[in-house]
Amino acid sequence: MDLGIKGKTALVLGASQGLGEAIARKLAEEGADLVLAARNEEALQANAQNLSREFGTKATAVSVDLSDPAAVATFAARVRNEFQPDMHVANAGGPPPSVSTGVAPEVWQKSAQMLLFSIIQVIEAAAEPMKAKGWGRILAIGSSGVIQPIPNLAVSNTIRGAVAGFCKTLSAEVAGSGITVNMILPGKIDTARVGQLDTARAGREGKTLEQVRSEIAASLPIKRYGKPEEFAAVAAFLLSEPAGYVTGQMTRVDGGMIRSI
Ligand SMILES: NC(=O)c1ccc[n+]([C@@H]2O[C@H](COP(=O)([O-])OP(=O)(O)OC[C@H]3O[C@@H](n4cnc5c(N)ncnc54)[C@H](OP(=O)(O)O)[C@@H]3O)[C@@H](O)[C@H]2O)c1
Repeated sequence: MDLGIKGKTALVLGASQGLGEAIARKLAEEGADLVLAARNEEALQANAQNLSREFGTKATAVSVDLSDPAAVATFAARVRNEFQPDMHVANAGGPPPSVSTGVAPEVWQKSAQMLLFSIIQVIEAAAEPMKAKGWGRILAIGSSGVIQPIPNLAVSNTIRGAVAGFCKTLSAEVAGSGITVNMILPGKIDTARVGQLDTARAGREGKTLEQVRSEIAASLPIKRYGKPEEFAAVAAFLLSEPAGYVTGQMTRVDGGMIRSI
């Protein structure tokens, strides 16, 4: 299937590793130009160079800390005036694991700044030039926890629900301008973030990492972790031309992990 995104520009946040990096790679393979953002400039530059070399696309690396409001204001202005993406992947790091109570106010604040307020600010900046062009795709990476809260990930469960409310509201407001707004919900896709969470769980439960990983895999209907490229393929479709009639949706890529209909 032709995704119809050759020559279009995608702004991918969290593109230095993990799911963001995998989506950037898939979009480059489909001929899109890229603006890759995260904090680690060295990793971003390496990814940009590799993608340009392998796929002949234009890839720019931009370092930004999404938990820093001043840096995000500058970045958002560049998104609106300079990058003017056709597609935007709203993504950032995951908050630290914890139960719901006893979380330090600074953790709530920093996580909400990164995962909610900055995400909103950048989405808004990206949506403006999309409106002028009459075409755009916005895709926010959430978590299975939006639908089925994950034990010991209270901060993530809480903040991502707010992102879902924002995306659904925005989707109706911009649908008439040719812009779709969707969320994609990973379950257990094998990335560094999932490795960190599994390691923390192994420590809490006095088990080895291998034990924890095989228990988790056995608990999933599909009996294995997902691959970043499997996740990226679904994301690329949601960002594509043929997905133009899909908006305001949350798409699960979780191997059946969420048990509800
Ligand atoms: N993998 C899964 O199955 C899964 C499941 C549920 C939810 N999620 C969520 O989906 C998102 C992506 O997951 P992942 O597995 O790809 O995680 P990851 O491997 O930890 O990657 C996170 C990305 O976000 C960037 N980032 C972190 N903090 C940032 C900050 N303050 N400012 C700017 N960029 C920042 C990181 O780059 P730098 O360090 O260079 O900034 C990295 O590129 C995370 O929010 C994660 O919690 C993932």
